Amino acid sequence: MKALSTAIAALATLFVFALPVSAQEAAEPRWSIAIHGGAGTLDPDEMTPERRAAYEAALQNALDAAKAVLANGGSAMDAVKAAIVPLEDDPLFNAGRGAVFTWDGKNELDASIMDGRDRSAGAVTGVTSIKNPILLADAVRTDSPHVFLMGTGAEQFASEKGLETAPPEWFATEARREALERMKARELSALDVDHKFGTVGAVALDMAGNLAAGTSTGGMTGKRWGRIGDAPVIGAGTYADNRSCAVSATGWGEYFIRVGVASEICSRYRFLRITKAYAQSSERREWLEQQNYPQGIADAVMQEVKELGGDGGVIIVTPEGQALFSFNTTGMYRGRATSDGVNEVAIFADVIEQASETP
Ligand code: GLY
Repeated sequence: MKALSTAIAALATLFVFALPVSAQEAAEPRWSIAIHGGAGTLDPDEMTPERRAAYEAALQNALDAAKAVLANGGSAMDAVKAAIVPLEDDPLFNAGRGAVFTWDGKNELDASIMDGRDRSAGAVTGVTSIKNPILLADAVRTDSPHVFLMGTGAEQFASEKGLETAPPEWFATEARREALERMKARELSALDVDHKFGTVGAVALDMAGNLAAGTSTGGMTGKRWGRIGDAPVIGAGTYADNRSCAVSATGWGEYFIRVGVASEICSRYRFLRITKAYAQSSERREWLEQQNYPQGIADAVMQEVKELGGDGGVIIVTPEGQALFSFNTTGMYRGRATSDGVNEVAIFADVIEQASETP
């Protein structure tokens, strides 16, 4: 009997040492977060230092809230909500308070959230009285048998769940009202007055290896006929799957829906990870490692959006802990932080070249 257990122990030792060095070392738990506050035509010459500082402070504030959750061992889902709630409450961004106006002069809000553990998702569109639509989207995910609720039905569900409401004055800001008036007076399109889209979003990886994504928006100035953009559409504006990545988008929603941007990026990255896992030779694996993925994948999908005529950007977090951005506009309000010590916020496109190189 003793001989048998000695043999088993020897075999187990052999097995451990037969593993690659990387698998023998216990992997350090990592966390990662990326956020955005919209992408669009952003010109440094048109932004005062005070306004720039206000945006950077708001982004850092949201990033700090998410970092605190993740660094203390909290979940990716809680980190995403912790980042998005202050952005919804900040009138600088087109989500919650400060949302753009519809053609009929209302603030109609959309949001969605997805948990990469089990791909459970919740989304709401056209709500007008819920202070933090991202929390309602999450309640749809956890407390209803559905994924997507709209308008008064979504608000009735919110009231049953005791979610905080706010009066129309909470959401309405003078700057957004003026944008609607300019649009109507000069018969401009939403794109002429919405030089930036202002949607907010967050993606996170927690120390347990779980991914999450969330997005919240007021949509586009002057929207009518019940128009819905990509932000509340799972697969277009938001997607998270532990097997691939977490993505939140901002931009011209019609194009993001047509390309299915968020799920397209995740699917391509998932297939790449499978290909790598099954690569027959170490040369092939090394070649795959060198292909600038998933940055290359996100850039390729954003190029597709551009070729169709759309613009905007995405934030991505991978199971490996990379926090990345890709956008085809002159700027994107954005930030990222990781357990490796990365902590940065940025607005204009020039900074992104450096950012893209850092995994
Ligand atoms: N990306 C936000 C929207 O198009 O509504």
